[in-house]
Amino acid sequence: MLPEQHDILFTFIAIAFAVFAIYVFISSIQICREREGINIGFWGTVFGAFAIGAFLMTAHMFTLIQADQLQFFFSTYLWAIVVLLMVWGSFYKSNKIESQSPPIIRGFFFWTTVSLLLAGYTNWLPQQRSDPPPKEAALVGDVTMEEFAEMGRIIIFGAKQVAGQPSIGKGQCPLCHTFDPGDNIGRCPNLFGVENRSHDRVKEDRYATSPIAIGETDPASGIVKGKYDEIPEEYRRQNGPDEFTGEDYIRESVMCPTCYVVEKFGNDGDTKSPMPVIVKPPVSLSRVEVNAVIAYLQSKDTPGEFATVTVPLPQDDAGNTGGAVAEDSSDDEDKPVFVTGTEDIQTMINTLGCPLCHTIPGVEGAMGMLGPELHEKINAPKRIKDPNYKGKATNTKEYVRESILNPGAYVVFNEAEGELFPDGLMPTDFSQMLSVHAIDKLVDFISQTEPPAGS
Ligand code: HEC
Ligand code: HEC
Repeated sequence: MLPEQHDILFTFIAIAFAVFAIYVFISSIQICREREGINIGFWGTVFGAFAIGAFLMTAHMFTLIQADQLQFFFSTYLWAIVVLLMVWGSFYKSNKIESQSPPIIRGFFFWTTVSLLLAGYTNWLPQQRSDPPPKEAALVGDVTMEEFAEMGRIIIFGAKQVAGQPSIGKGQCPLCHTFDPGDNIGRCPNLFGVENRSHDRVKEDRYATSPIAIGETDPASGIVKGKYDEIPEEYRRQNGPDEFTGEDYIRESVMCPTCYVVEKFGNDGDTKSPMPVIVKPPVSLSRVEVNAVIAYLQSKDTPGEFATVTVPLPQDDAGNTGGAVAEDSSDDEDKPVFVTGTEDIQTMINTLGCPLCHTIPGVEGAMGMLGPELHEKINAPKRIKDPNYKGKATNTKEYVRESILNPGAYVVFNEAEGELFPDGLMPTDFSQMLSVHAIDKLVDFISQTEPPAGS
């Protein structure tokens, strides 16, 4: 399927249908007015209902993305229009209206038929991919470092980059990080130049002690800081433990963020990193994926130049990382993030990435620390009463909905750090990832969150 877009043609047809339904309504009212003996109340209600229905269905089409749009269009909308045509026909028959259908209607039928045929045809054609992602499964054979780094890029940014949409892959990194010089969100280091820094970081005095000393185990990740031999074997680089390298630093940064917390980017006086361990849920990258991400980070600042990359290619590593080659070749990362609301709440929340930034009672593993803990049952009423609150919500559910769809409406104060939480960090495009039903379900759940008993 094409990227996470609206299907332009079908959106267009949906709008045309709505216009058509309104036209039918107006024209039938006119006919009722012009002729005696027609039950104007009855037909007005019938066609009015169709017009409103068509309008609502068109609006609904806008909340869906491509595949769901087609599904909705063919399962519901099209039939509603067919029924409308039949009712309209019976209106003419029952009222013995001889007047021929006006040319505009014939034109409309012709146009719709042609469009439908065309749409059917284009959807039947094999869809073209904008950017074929190298799949892990495809890595069994010869892979160049360029392809491997490209795989890392796709894990970070996703295979599709659609104009006007932030591009985020399964690694979720761009949720927090920026990658271009000068582009800073504020709460997370810009990853431009990370390859250069990585060689210096391991030599810093801070590295030896911050906040976990070399040789200590980080409880969250289970990794022993700075010890090549004690990084789980499958994630280890293959070239031996000669000395701390830049690669070790980058690997630790993503697998054990608290092993070294970049100054001013940590919580609790830089003793804890708010970054998720990327080999654990919700991100859960495999070992080959971690290496690909590192290969990308090591080479991204020098386009076309891969000499700085030290991670092994999947086929070079004596079977050590090879085991993962067939591990994960799902299509997941090709699809836009979208939840319909039929998933259970835990899956929904993990898919959307909320746990990366929020600690959410009742959601396993949701320990994010970049945003407020979600205790909305008690927080929301407080926020609304805050004199600085300028949003539109009047109750908890409205506040939660507003926070999800328009996070900038109110920026929460971080009492622990004595400053506002960063505005603009929480993504503003969740409305595009949620069906109407899903947003209701999410709001219901988040509105009920409260501190766990006993804390
Ligand atoms: C929830 C937000 C978040 C996500 C998602 C995230 N990070 Fe981070 N990352 C941070 C924060 C905050 C820091 C700084 C604290 C620290 O050093 O751990 C950081 C630090 C880093 C560093 C060290 C940077 C330096 O200048 O030394 C690297 C490398 C890094 N992240 C890579 C990644 C990659 C790769 C991904 C995606 C697979 C990712 N991060 C996903 C928040 C995040
Ligand atoms: C990249 C990090 C990030 C992600 C991902 C994220 N948020 Fe947030 N969220 C924040 C930050 C930072 C704030 C505080 C700043 C503000 O109020 O805008 C916040 C604020 C909120 C608030 C208001 C909390 C309060 O106590 O007033 C709610 C509710 C919320 N987020 C829900 C969600 C939900 C639900 C998701 C997933 C669909 C989500 N967030 C994903 C960072 C994030």
